[in-house]
Amino acid sequence: LEVNWNVEAAKKNGYPHYMLKEIHEQPDALHNTITPRLRDGLPDFSDDGIPDQVFADCDQIAIVACGTAMYAGMVGKALMEPLLKIPVSVNIASEYRYESPLVDEKTLVIVISQSGETIDTLAALRLSKERGAKVLSVVNVKGSTIARESDYVFYTHAGPEIAVASTKAYMVQLSSLYLIGCRMAMVRGKFTEQEAAAFVDQLLSSIPAVEKILEHKSRIKTAAGVLSKAKDAFFVGRGLDYAFSLEGSLKLKEISYIHAEAYAAGELKHGTIALIEENTPVIAVATQDHIYGKTISNIREVRARGAFVILITKKGAEIPEGICDIHFEVPVSDDRFAVFPVAVILQLLAYYTSDLKGLNVDKPRNLAKSVTVE
Ligand code: G6P
Repeated sequence: LEVNWNVEAAKKNGYPHYMLKEIHEQPDALHNTITPRLRDGLPDFSDDGIPDQVFADCDQIAIVACGTAMYAGMVGKALMEPLLKIPVSVNIASEYRYESPLVDEKTLVIVISQSGETIDTLAALRLSKERGAKVLSVVNVKGSTIARESDYVFYTHAGPEIAVASTKAYMVQLSSLYLIGCRMAMVRGKFTEQEAAAFVDQLLSSIPAVEKILEHKSRIKTAAGVLSKAKDAFFVGRGLDYAFSLEGSLKLKEISYIHAEAYAAGELKHGTIALIEENTPVIAVATQDHIYGKTISNIREVRARGAFVILITKKGAEIPEGICDIHFEVPVSDDRFAVFPVAVILQLLAYYTSDLKGLNVDKPRNLAKSVTVE
């Protein structure tokens, strides 16, 4: 196994926890992952050895991963399907490998893994290859088993991630999927060069958007004060906002041991709303213009049952009077890129909640950084 970083880089560098250090490393991680893949402002993967033919030949995409990497895949699907107009499925590796998945030589399988060693993800990769699919993996650890066995590898350049709860690896997995989606849209005639260049500009502007959240993180700590006293918390959103919420909820439960669930906002009324009581925290993500009004009406429903609402919107969104207790804004102009700053808010919420509860932030109970058992 080749390790592509040094011991020095793995120190805490003045931060109380690796997780907080890694959250702060995200602007650099994004920069290091995106910019080497740009030529004249457009995505170009010739240095990665990924030919355009791979993107032209397939008629569907199957994303396979576990945990946080799988949730990055959920965002990837929400981005890629409307962009490429081909079916994109997201598969939990431990299910996929026993399910006889419908993949064939016309399927591009995108495997996502920080460590490159997760056993279920590896088994899913091998099964995909047996079925004749081409496998492109998005991996952080150079020379890892998944990287070695894939047809093509797109390395994320997050550097070492020590905290068990993944943060910067998720962030760069997202940016990789955005770049892959962009290149694929160019190859398949869904993007003109001009449209692709504008998309890349938006992706690059996610870096200062992430920095902005990091600069103003004290308010997030205040919100964590409320969460730290809760037994349950619900994350709600629609579309892309739902995809981001899934990861936010996972982060909170992993390190704060608070029961957290993410729900597609419109689905709340079919059961979960029964769990909302006076002061139950609801973290509502509402950054997508075309469904903003719908999400707001779902928030009214939980509000009417006494929920304590932490609302995340785009900067400048019109907020109805009394709709929330705490409001965070993210600086984005194209809704598809809201995930980058929103992810940082959700990571910090989980981080501060765990820290305020005096828990072992970097090494939560019962969890392992890399899971090599089935
Ligand atoms: C473990 C880690 C998670 C990670 C998952 C998949 O459960 O605790 O943070 O998302 O494995 O790991 P991978 O290395 O394949 O991304």
